[in-house]
Amino acid sequence: MNAIKVGLLGIGTVGGGTFHVLRRNQEEIKGRAGRGIEITMVADLDVARAKAIVGDACEVVADARAIIDNPEIDIVVELIGGYGIAKELVLEAIRRGKHVVTANKALLAVHGTEIFAAAHTKGVMVGFEAAVAGGIPIIKALREGLTANRIEWVAGIINGTTNFILSEMRAKGAPFAEVLKEAQRLGYAEADPTFDIEGIDAAHKATLMSAIAFGIPVQFDKAHVEGITQLQATDIKYAEQLGYRIKLLGVARRREQGIELRVHPTLIPANRLIANVEGAMNAVVVQADAVGTTLYYGKGAGAEPTASAVVADLVDITRLATADPEHRVPHLAFRPDAMSSAPILSMDQVRTSFYLRLRVADEAGVLSRITTTLAEHDISIDAVLQRESAEGERQTDLIILTHDTVEGRMNKALAQMQTLSSVLAPIVKIRKEELA
Ligand code: HSE
Repeated sequence: MNAIKVGLLGIGTVGGGTFHVLRRNQEEIKGRAGRGIEITMVADLDVARAKAIVGDACEVVADARAIIDNPEIDIVVELIGGYGIAKELVLEAIRRGKHVVTANKALLAVHGTEIFAAAHTKGVMVGFEAAVAGGIPIIKALREGLTANRIEWVAGIINGTTNFILSEMRAKGAPFAEVLKEAQRLGYAEADPTFDIEGIDAAHKATLMSAIAFGIPVQFDKAHVEGITQLQATDIKYAEQLGYRIKLLGVARRREQGIELRVHPTLIPANRLIANVEGAMNAVVVQADAVGTTLYYGKGAGAEPTASAVVADLVDITRLATADPEHRVPHLAFRPDAMSSAPILSMDQVRTSFYLRLRVADEAGVLSRITTTLAEHDISIDAVLQRESAEGERQTDLIILTHDTVEGRMNKALAQMQTLSSVLAPIVKIRKEELA
């Protein structure tokens, strides 16, 4: 059988990795896929650089439309990124009956509904294993490996840049801004790190996982997105004293009333495996009814780890391209007519426990006023830590861990506590997940 022909849109880090992995492992990949997989065209604005990577192995063009227009190309791999031209090219490739593989989480988290519907209509596949947690096969796990299960929740460290920064802040006790600069110097953080440090990249990935886990449409616009820019080294230290680590978690959790979809700094018990994922590594924990808890760990970025996911999608498509579209694995795990309309819950309805840090006057009755306010809002305290006041200081930090409550109730209690004259600074609130 002839090799399946692939066109790459963009040959930067991941494109280069894909080219090299396919070439290096071509015999094994052919054995697995049932036919060869060949990159026959590459489009990149920097033609000279692209040629330096691929040599004479394939045709290099500056205009991506030359790939879309080529009837010989079976699969288009979109590695351009962003929502602009990438969206146009993906939709055009689908219209031309080509299968698509993409690592573009932003595109799918925001425009996935339109893209998957177009692919369904044309009977083509859109592979996106590389869009979530790089080389970790979490899409495959959620969509196929765990298909017997009712998934209860998914929680992941799905942004390596922020995990690197948090690991360094904890290890060195250094402030966010200083560690960010160091991360940029070492190449762990982009020159413009906004998407990573503001939690947007993680929210794109959490959105895709929520869709597959619960059979809901992709709804990035309803995700709660909070990054790590406001996180203070002091809170990382206090959390550690209480037996917790702070991680930027992407959480998708099924509740009776709907789905929680959120990204925010989170306290996790230090003895959980995921709490010990350090540096730029990624990990995802899935809680499901039949299998229980499973954990997926690996590199979430980088040339060959991400290429590993891209090539896995190429092999899947090669195996299944001729199969009846009705019997292929659905893009979002559930068939379009079996999708759920469960709503994404507002943050007021989200249920977690909390870490609170209050800067308070060190005087009689303060603790009692604060605990009374929590009790009045039916919020139960799990632990309290009060630092001894420094010599000559008449104020101190009061740290409170609560049991589970809904966020709306917590916010009302916090608003009331904030008005107390003995509370001297804005109260710090960080969500806590036991992940039990
Ligand atoms: N910038 C991402 C990260 C990798 O730091 O994990 C690509 O999503």
